Order: sequence, then C-alpha cells, then structure tokens
Amino acid sequence: MTEVIDVQEAAALVQDMHQFHYRAWDRMDNMERLARRLKDKKDSDKAGPLKEIDEVRTFFRDGVGPHFQMEEAKIYPLVKTLLPPRKRIAIAFMIKEHRAIWRHVMQLRDLLQAAREGGAGAQVEQAEPVGDVALQIVRLVRRHITKENMIYQTLEGIL
Ligand SMILES: [Fe+2]
Ligand SMILES: [Fe+2]
Repeated sequence: MTEVIDVQEAAALVQDMHQFHYRAWDRMDNMERLARRLKDKKDSDKAGPLKEIDEVRTFFRDGVGPHFQMEEAKIYPLVKTLLPPRKRIAIAFMIKEHRAIWRHVMQLRDLLQAAREGGAGAQVEQAEPVGDVALQIVRLVRRHITKENMIYQTLEGIL
C-alpha cells in the first residue's frame, strides 16, 4: 500500500523542525559559556551559572524532548518514504544519538538537583561535574544537528 503524503503539510513541518535547530544551536553557545564559567576555578559565582544552566535544562524538557519525539514520529518515517535506502541508514544513528543526548540530560538534571538540595558547599562541589556534563551535551547536540541538517536539506530539496 502506498502512503499518501500531503506535500504542503510535510514541507511546512520539515521547515519548522529545521528552524528549531538554529534556536537550539544558540542555546548550546550559551550553555558552553555557562559550563566554562562553572569549570573556571577563578570564577567564584557558581549560583548564577547553575541557575542559568537549569533554565537551559528546561529548554531540553519543553523544547528538545518534544522535537525528538516529533522527529521520530513524523520526520524519520518521511525520510524512509522519500529518500533512497542509503540515506535511510542515517536514521538509526539519529535515534541512537537522541538516546545518548537524553541520558546526558537526565544526568544533568540529577546533578543540578544535588546542587540545589545538597546544602552549603554543594553548589561549589557540583559546579565542575555539571560543567563537564553540560559540555558533553553541547558537543553531542552540535554533532547531531550538523548531521541532521543534511537530512533536512535533502527533504527540503524534494518537497
Ligand atoms: Fe532535530
Ligand atoms: Fe534529531
């Protein structure tokens, strides 16, 4: 059975999802700056960057999480329908990367919670590990977006 695709609807969705990558990229630039401050021994203000990184974490919960779900539910099936088999292979890697990014985000959430609830000294103690995980997330997300943008560009060329 051939699946019927509403081309206009699909094109709008692809464009919308692709645009989100630029917002996420900006957030990663911000997250990298905050992580570097957390890892800077000479910078004694840890409360400020910890609070701001927690705001980036909520962007993951409210923005990136639903974005991943939408890609897996709508975009990747579209790739499977529209693109040749050699391009479809990338999808398994994309899903793997979603899982890896999400594991790190959960780790970040737990570390931030420990910093919040750990009493005096916990913020200073957690600053370095939070900074490390945040930098890993930044690296994973940038790599993912760079690869995935190629998929979006190919889809935009077809639709
Ligand atoms: Fe994406
Ligand atoms: Fe993705």
